[in-house]
Amino acid sequence: MTAWLLDPEVLHLNHGSFGATPAAVLDAQNSIRERIEANPTRFFLEGEYQEALDEARRAVAQFVGADEGGTVFVTNATAGVNSVLRSLEPALLPGDEILVTDHEYNACANAAVVSASRASAVVTTAQVPFPLEHQRDVVDAVLAAVTDRTRILLIDAVTSATGLVLPVVELAAELEPDVQVLVDAAHAPGMIDFDVAQSGASYVTANCHKWMCSAKGAAFLWVRPDRRDGLYPAVISHGYNGGWPSEGGHLHAQFDWTGTHDPSAWLTVPHALAAVEAMHPGGWPGVKAAIREMCLGGRDVLIEALGIAPPAPADMIGAIASVPLPPADNSGSAIFDPLMAALRERHGIEVPVFTWPAPPDRVLRISAHLYNRPSDYDRLAEALAAELR
Ligand SMILES: Cc1ncc(COP(=O)(O)O)c(C=O)c1O
Repeated sequence: MTAWLLDPEVLHLNHGSFGATPAAVLDAQNSIRERIEANPTRFFLEGEYQEALDEARRAVAQFVGADEGGTVFVTNATAGVNSVLRSLEPALLPGDEILVTDHEYNACANAAVVSASRASAVVTTAQVPFPLEHQRDVVDAVLAAVTDRTRILLIDAVTSATGLVLPVVELAAELEPDVQVLVDAAHAPGMIDFDVAQSGASYVTANCHKWMCSAKGAAFLWVRPDRRDGLYPAVISHGYNGGWPSEGGHLHAQFDWTGTHDPSAWLTVPHALAAVEAMHPGGWPGVKAAIREMCLGGRDVLIEALGIAPPAPADMIGAIASVPLPPADNSGSAIFDPLMAALRERHGIEVPVFTWPAPPDRVLRISAHLYNRPSDYDRLAEALAAELR
């Protein structure tokens, strides 16, 4: 059995968007589903669900340096961000500000816009340069955008289109507790060392289905002890009036049950942690170091092929990296450039080309995971040379 189900005819350089799940983890998910379907009533109502959920929660909390009491599962980082922002709406006054950066993931920036509009608050945007030379450039750009009306900072631990590891711990140290920092760490667990409880942020949400390689539909939200009371999921369910018998306090009661769903992705988390750990002799530290090294090597290949300077320092790179491309002579969708389809259709390469920051400018983002090889990036560079000619 091969370790991954990825189509061997395609060169996969986009782990960043949706992750990839090892075959062993999908097998575990099938077994979990069979267990549920053998007797759904027993599974959900007679303790099996809660026990399995608590075990999976323990695994993810330990992996990311969070306490179990403050950790809940959500379906994805988008849901985590929405839950926090919706919960904070009642405390916002007209004219208060939710600060984001211009590198913010579009879906989560949209959540900020909607929450702000419900509260008659406003979204403000820090302009973070890219290319950039130092992490300090990010700190300076964000702090310059903070005003005495800023209540919330929504910031990515690793940005999406630009693939940058941002100095969120430094920013939380500068801004908390006056500004509540919500870290969208969608890419962080399994890619970079990011200790959730030590981050200094009020809230951290992150995906398990990206770099931890769980089945899709698994993410967590961690809430600092002093922020837990008023926090609710985006979907209100039994826990609101004590109708879900959770022993884990307010937060668990709200999030452990948000209506009937397939919890098997959440329950694959311990399996994913074990499966990926076993793929490298150095365990998880070895995995993270190997994929970062491969990504930096791949970025070097592209930088040389494009004849450009590194667009960001190496200490801002994890296992995804973006390089600016020459401007497009056609305009794509609001998010993707047509070159992405050309690379897929003519060269068999899946790699995202984002319109960024606005057409005709664009960036190409590579990913590296254990199924990639250094030669993958040579092949991409050749394809790019052909397409950009
Ligand atoms: C920074 C960032 N936040 C949030 C997300 C959304 O992840 P999901 O679709 O799993 O909610 C992504 C996805 O790539 C991302 O890059």
